[in-house]
Amino acid sequence: MRYKRQAVILLSFITAITLIECTKVIPDYHKDTSDKAVPEPTLVSTGKQIFRFDAFGDEDFWSGLLHIDKAIAGAKNGGFGAGVSPKTALAVGLKVDAGALPPSVVAGIQSGAIDLNDPATTLALLKLNAVVGVKGNFTAEGGLKSIGITCASCHSTVDNSFAPGIGKRLDGWPNRDLNVGALISLTDNAQPIANLLHVNETTLRQVLGMWGPGKFAAILFMDGKALRPDGKVAANLIPAAFGLKGVPLTTYTGWGDISYWNSFVGNLEMHGKGDFTDPRLNDPAKYPIAVENGFFNVNHVPDLITPKLPALRAYQHSISAPKPPANTFDHAAAGRGKAIFLTKAKCASCHIPPLYTEPVNDLHTAEEIGIDDFEAKRSPTGKYRTTPLGGLFTRAKGGFYHDGRFATLNDVVNHYDTHFKLKLSPAEKHDLAEYLKSL
Ligand code: HEC
Ligand code: HEC
Repeated sequence: MRYKRQAVILLSFITAITLIECTKVIPDYHKDTSDKAVPEPTLVSTGKQIFRFDAFGDEDFWSGLLHIDKAIAGAKNGGFGAGVSPKTALAVGLKVDAGALPPSVVAGIQSGAIDLNDPATTLALLKLNAVVGVKGNFTAEGGLKSIGITCASCHSTVDNSFAPGIGKRLDGWPNRDLNVGALISLTDNAQPIANLLHVNETTLRQVLGMWGPGKFAAILFMDGKALRPDGKVAANLIPAAFGLKGVPLTTYTGWGDISYWNSFVGNLEMHGKGDFTDPRLNDPAKYPIAVENGFFNVNHVPDLITPKLPALRAYQHSISAPKPPANTFDHAAAGRGKAIFLTKAKCASCHIPPLYTEPVNDLHTAEEIGIDDFEAKRSPTGKYRTTPLGGLFTRAKGGFYHDGRFATLNDVVNHYDTHFKLKLSPAEKHDLAEYLKSL
């Protein structure tokens, strides 16, 4: 199998490299080191380009292996099947960057002269670099050679200022419309992923169909657990990638710092080509898929990810949590709710302002926050991290908590009221929810 062969080749590389230099002493899940050599503004603007447009060489996976480029193009344009028209792309939650459209295209869309039901239009949009998070590579003759995906596919959206799904980029905002499972399902070659997970293609496609919009199952590709113990699909909501400056541990379960996780995703989820090491994944009982495929130690020459991590982090750290529009919550109620948050409801004992998370590596057991431990136990930490609450309004869709189990903020407040026996009155609960909306 492809992965196994890759692992063997990688292993010999790694042995050779280890013999030459044994200098990597920082545990990889704490990758963050300050990079003072490059001035900050340059790092931030480089990081922005990486976040938006860099596929880290993942085209070999998304196009070479899965043929998503051919599925988008469709049979009429050298691919297979019906192709993906802009209408279809928007329907699965992909976004179009209006800022990348020349006036002629804007006019054409407005007048209807440009056909949004034609996959050829999608190819034209890809050529303009206008499909958020999807990078098209074209031949000299103008044919689509391959596509790759970037961080922006999941962690950016648009402000819909031109039309639904078309507008100005909003980097760091989770794309809660993106149906990642449906995108992967475009492949005509699901067998390699099915093999990886030791299931048949039908089962794989069923699972991908169950994730739904705004969700992705990163740890599935480590432990092979597609379903939760209650039989529901195991998939997590795409979180915000803004407001993370000063947040010590990233992900719902605190896998590691921001650069650790950026590298994890770039290498193991997007299938970019870099170096990644985490001995914690070398645990056959907990992470059988990762062990089988050598994900605990991947190596590529050249490494297309590690050198980009400082800039990527600088860009993420430069994006602060956005403030909600003034007319989206009741200001007086939010003011009263703030006092409840800080005192009676004790929310701030974990969600400490201004980041609304914990400054040190304080994680929480499932019992502490009153939920099941399935997702926590899949993480090396065994616990949940206190989610930073800034810009909550950007992720109202899909629910709250890692898997969206609470549909609304009122449900979250009710959960805490019961779990911590807070005895909040209905008015206090309302005020607390209004405060959450104001963050
Ligand atoms: C296919 C969708 C997808 C892509 C592509 C993706 N992510 Fe994520 N990202 C997620 C999901 C889902 C999580 C939540 C993981 C978890 O906790 O289980 C996440 C978590 C994160 C977090 C942690 C946020 C927090 O609150 O701690 C950061 C930071 C992040 N991603 C950055 C990136 C970067 C940088 C890239 C590109 C290298 C990237 N992601 C690509 C889906 C994606
Ligand atoms: C013991 C620590 C702790 C306390 C106290 C606490 N939280 Fe949380 N909070 C967490 C953790 C951990 C999570 C992540 C849970 C998950 O994703 O499954 C979380 C998640 C949330 C979320 C969901 C955020 C998102 O994007 O999904 C909201 C909203 C929230 N808390 C609000 C509150 C409010 C309001 C209070 C007070 C009534 C409170 N929290 C008290 C630890 C705490």
